Amino acid sequence: MDKLYKTNEESWNSFQKDFRVSWGLEDVYIKPTSLTYIDGEKGELRYLGYGIQDIISANALAEEMQYAFINGELPSREELRHFVDVIEEGYDLPEHVIAAITSLPSSSDVVAMQASAMASLAAVSDFSWPQENKGDFFAKMLGQMSAITAVSIRHSVRQKPRLPSPGKAYAESFLEALLGKSPGDEKVRAMNNSLILYMDHEVPASTTAGIVTASTLADPYSAVLSALAALRGPLHGGATEVAMSQFLEISDPRSVDAWIQDNIITGKRRLMGFGHRVYKTYDPRALIFKSMAVKLASDKSNAKLLSIALRLEEAGSQALQKKGIYPNADFYSPIVFSCIGIPFVKGSYTAVFALSRLPGWLAHFNEYLSLGGRIIRPRAIYVGHNERRFKPISER
Ligand code: CMC
Repeated sequence: MDKLYKTNEESWNSFQKDFRVSWGLEDVYIKPTSLTYIDGEKGELRYLGYGIQDIISANALAEEMQYAFINGELPSREELRHFVDVIEEGYDLPEHVIAAITSLPSSSDVVAMQASAMASLAAVSDFSWPQENKGDFFAKMLGQMSAITAVSIRHSVRQKPRLPSPGKAYAESFLEALLGKSPGDEKVRAMNNSLILYMDHEVPASTTAGIVTASTLADPYSAVLSALAALRGPLHGGATEVAMSQFLEISDPRSVDAWIQDNIITGKRRLMGFGHRVYKTYDPRALIFKSMAVKLASDKSNAKLLSIALRLEEAGSQALQKKGIYPNADFYSPIVFSCIGIPFVKGSYTAVFALSRLPGWLAHFNEYLSLGGRIIRPRAIYVGHNERRFKPISER
């Protein structure tokens, strides 16, 4: 092992013999949850008891599921109407939040733009746990996040801010703000389903990062800021866009086999959009994203991306299945996003993932604290130098 910092041999040996660190916190349980159930062996995913395929087949609205995550049960019509009214209040972003996005260079990463907007909301937030009317506070955040995401992606393609308008479904208002017009029912439905498929996934790195921040009783904007930072990395939500870049790099379905041989079989690179800490079989979200991509990819460039992805899945599975590595949600979702017409710029696809995940993040922060969760403060085992005398710089 290449150790950056010196270890004390005796402490290091005793650490190796007597302690077990769970690298990556694998199999560590940080909370009970009633939100999301995953069976990684069978490839099952349920939100509050409802199977993901059932939710999608029943044409659920994203805002119904958002309500369920925030409030614990599906809404009645009246409850949904109130929830949507509060979401829509959030569309009207304060000027200083828009400025926090548009003052950045347009070449900036879109997730960093979202984070900048979240920081500007945290800066003026007077939220204090346990806040009264949290449900309304979180609903307003969902509206703010839709507006923030639309303004951020538009800024990255040098378009003026445009906010979602009230009176439409959450997915449609977002796409109208982002694209300047509604892209039609089929694409709105695809956006709605993407929002649902990415809505929660128990406690991955981003949710855990946010829970750590919320456990200090920081406000929800600050906790979302932590979650966004963790989501951005290529091993987590950033995988959506690295998967897309991988398809673009391969550029032709006939090049897939040679590419797999050079990059994956040799172990030089990881196949992005493959593999998962929990799933040891096909990610059920990937199956649904795949069928959406197959239905939507009708124009020439998306059809080509899809045929690259399909061939890559076949060759990648042959190479990696024996290790329990299968496609995850981020493999086909970029093709769905591309078919919907979401511009592919730095961070844009991960930003749409973040928009989708916000209800899950908020629900987990709230659940952790309402169950009496304490400040998260683990320990590290000291294996460094024994005590030594500090020498002034002139003596070193
Ligand atoms: N391509 C090639 N080999 C892989 C891959 C992959 N995508 N994923 C894991 N492996 C191998 C890895 O090299 C290791 O092999 P060995 O035991 O021979 O050294 C073994 O599988 C275990 O890997 P690990 O890194 O210990 O597994 P992990 O549970 O810590 O990592 C992961 C999970 C998702 C980070 C990893 O599978 C990965 O890097 N995947 C690619 C990035 C990706 O698609 N991320 C999205 C995750 S799911 C949705 C989301 O969160 O956004």
